[in-house]
Amino acid sequence: MSIDIKPLAPAERKACPETFNFGENFADHMFIQAHDRVNGWKNAEIKPYQSISLDPSAAVLHYGQEIFEGMKAYRTKEGQINLFRPLDNFKRFNRSATRMVMPEVDENFHLDALKELVKLDNKWVPNQDGSSLYIRPTMIATGAKLGLGASDQYTHFIITGPAGAYFKDGFSPVSVYVADEYRRAVVGGVGEAKTGGNYAASLYMSEEVAKKGYSQVLWLDAIHGKYIEEVGAMNICFVYGDHIVTPKLSGSILPGITRDSILKLAPTLGYTVAEEQLDIDVILADIKSGKITEAFGCGTAAVISPVGQLCFKGEDYFINDNKAGEVSRNLYDELTGIQYGRREDKFGWIVKVDC
Ligand code: PLP
Ligand code: COI
Repeated sequence: MSIDIKPLAPAERKACPETFNFGENFADHMFIQAHDRVNGWKNAEIKPYQSISLDPSAAVLHYGQEIFEGMKAYRTKEGQINLFRPLDNFKRFNRSATRMVMPEVDENFHLDALKELVKLDNKWVPNQDGSSLYIRPTMIATGAKLGLGASDQYTHFIITGPAGAYFKDGFSPVSVYVADEYRRAVVGGVGEAKTGGNYAASLYMSEEVAKKGYSQVLWLDAIHGKYIEEVGAMNICFVYGDHIVTPKLSGSILPGITRDSILKLAPTLGYTVAEEQLDIDVILADIKSGKITEAFGCGTAAVISPVGQLCFKGEDYFINDNKAGEVSRNLYDELTGIQYGRREDKFGWIVKVDC
């Protein structure tokens, strides 16, 4: 399928701002296409960034039939633009689509559409250290009827915008509150799909913990209230010296692409890794005894974010004296080194955008 590209005239294009907060500025153009049962995907176009018109009865507004992805384009020192494992995001997008009874998007077409979009808006890929162009592919159910059932119409779009550090303090450790009462997702539910409802379910707790001065929530499994799952916008890893552990994919946590990259990169840096069922009581005891030497969250927006403090049932547990540690730093340097083209891409993860 071809993409109809309708660019703004150069004089109508905005300049990318010098400073930006995550997710608050958007590049000049967007990709969009529509799907219905008879025609499949149609009307693929790249056009100026603009509002989407929806019938007030559109299924996404009532029943939350929606999925999205989060990925980034990085500018190298030489001015080239790198995407990081984009086909892995598009495969996950399709797994989320299947779980939410939505149509799949051909992964190679998705990549071509993204490359065209980034090429057109290449001036929006920032070159400040640690910055990137955040990319948000999304699909919503647009069928106009209130009867509960999978929609018969969908819109798929991609928007982009410049992003700096997700957390305001950059690489400084974040404080995390362990949810003891509320749950985010359950095995058999939609926790491993990247669908808006998972995030909506997390907001109440996020607001509550923010009032207490914590920046993130760590979720426990919904059946036993005992096993560590993930943080609101990232997976979590604990470090025992040279050994890194992360919760195994239980079916209710997002299979993060950054998490998977760490599991593959860490052994190349001399660390051992394991995916395990992690009991919160054991983890807290290991923090207290000093066996756990570091903890960090990992995700596209968050990159690698050291965790310096966990609070559970009113008690605070400090990790590495609330300081960023060497393992987190080494992994951050290696991962971002590959993304920004400073280090060898041993796994073939980088896809270049020709501008
Ligand atoms: N877990 C959740 C709930 C997330 O929103 C994210 C971010 O996308 C992650 C984990 C990390 O996933 P990834 O590394 O693919 O960005
Ligand atoms: C990402 O890291 O890309 C995400 O989707 C997390 C989001 C909640 C900011």
